Amino acid sequence: MSTQGSRDFRPRFHYTPPKGWINDPNGPLYEDGIWHLFAQHYPHDTVWGPMHWIHATSKDLLNWENQGIALSPDERLGLIFSGSAVIDKGNTSGLGRERDPMICMYTHHGEHEQQSIAFSEDRMHFTPYEGNPVIPNSDLPDFRDPKVFRNDLLGCWSVVIAAGDHVEFHASPDLLHWHKTGEFGQAENKLGGVFECPDLFPLPAPDGSVLWVLIASMALPREFGGSRTQYFLGMFDGNTFVETHPSLRVKLIDSGYDNYAAVTFSGAEKPCIIGWGTSWNYAAEEPTGPFCGLMTYARNLALVQTVEGPRLSSAPIVPAFLLCEVPGAASRQPGQQPTVETALPGEQFCLRIEAKGPFCTSLFNAQGETFVVGLDNEKRFFTDRTQAGSRDFSELYRAGLASVTVTPRLQTGDIALTLYFDRCIAEVFADEGTYANTALLFPSKPYTHARLLGEGTLYVGTVQA
Ligand code: FRU
Repeated sequence: MSTQGSRDFRPRFHYTPPKGWINDPNGPLYEDGIWHLFAQHYPHDTVWGPMHWIHATSKDLLNWENQGIALSPDERLGLIFSGSAVIDKGNTSGLGRERDPMICMYTHHGEHEQQSIAFSEDRMHFTPYEGNPVIPNSDLPDFRDPKVFRNDLLGCWSVVIAAGDHVEFHASPDLLHWHKTGEFGQAENKLGGVFECPDLFPLPAPDGSVLWVLIASMALPREFGGSRTQYFLGMFDGNTFVETHPSLRVKLIDSGYDNYAAVTFSGAEKPCIIGWGTSWNYAAEEPTGPFCGLMTYARNLALVQTVEGPRLSSAPIVPAFLLCEVPGAASRQPGQQPTVETALPGEQFCLRIEAKGPFCTSLFNAQGETFVVGLDNEKRFFTDRTQAGSRDFSELYRAGLASVTVTPRLQTGDIALTLYFDRCIAEVFADEGTYANTALLFPSKPYTHARLLGEGTLYVGTVQA
């Protein structure tokens, strides 16, 4: 196991494994005050290897308690790839003896990719079902990542599964016996690559109707950034999904390169999504020492109106911050941009910028490392991590594409942008969360200061104990 790593980059409020590798969030589920999170996990090294599910729980989505390995590779059927979990209300599967079981549905990746289930009554120990796989497959090379949900339209269970260049829908009365009900995506997808980790859920639309959101993580060629998570808006009739709001610009849940395989928590009051906070392009090379991989902050989702139509808006679940306005400079040199500067309160903080026009904010340290975020003269949000810290570990992290992001604004009027920072991850939100941008940063020493250049107000937020 690699122990390389210049300093401790473990974030405080983002889930990381105690050691070894994680990728996709799996089976996120809320029940009785407890948030369950599983993740693709290889315990024996900080790179991808034979996949297990690791399990963690939390009461607030910020402080996570590790619960160990929930599922391990199966000699007969293969590795445990991504999937989801539900509480089988009413014990439709008959797998519960004393209470409704939690059912995890995942891909067994062996000679073929097939869907299997495991069940648990105590929510801590998981027993693979002996009739696995429940959805066999022998022809599709890619057939994985089942996201199961209660289908109230037809009074059954449904599952959306990634199947190469499209997704498939299957339905079941009991989570054990499944039949295919539809397909989506072959014609509608404009990104190329294979679908991974799909999800489907309804949300109230700004016009009072209900729209269904189909999330699709796309495994793209390396030169296109490796991995991006897009979404489609449309209708689900209980059997299949039809896109009703196509757009010229592909809709992404995050403008950054470090949010992949994001899926929602089953059982939550409203759709709440969590993603893998890095990219397939460079995750394995990150200088984080004994662990590799982290989750983003969980984000409550809604649909809001923008100049391009309804779009997802993300409201992250973050620690409580005490916000203080940074006083502006008393006088300014003629012809110079106003500047305010502040010291940062450690490695967990937030910054809020309120502005009427272009601005540029940076985090920096005495080593000259700086991460820059702002709005340019063309009304585009930008992030720049070209000089943000260590970059030598990966050519693809250094690449221009992954270093600088430029995203047109989808709203007009005054701007409020908030940046949440937790040791190695910055998550930026603006315009009611229709702009979200996640960036991994590896400053060799902590950032100590922040600066706002431009007309506006800067607030700095300290975590409240
Ligand atoms: C997405 C993914 C999934 C697969 C898993 C394997 O990141 O490729 O499609 O189930 O990772 O670890």
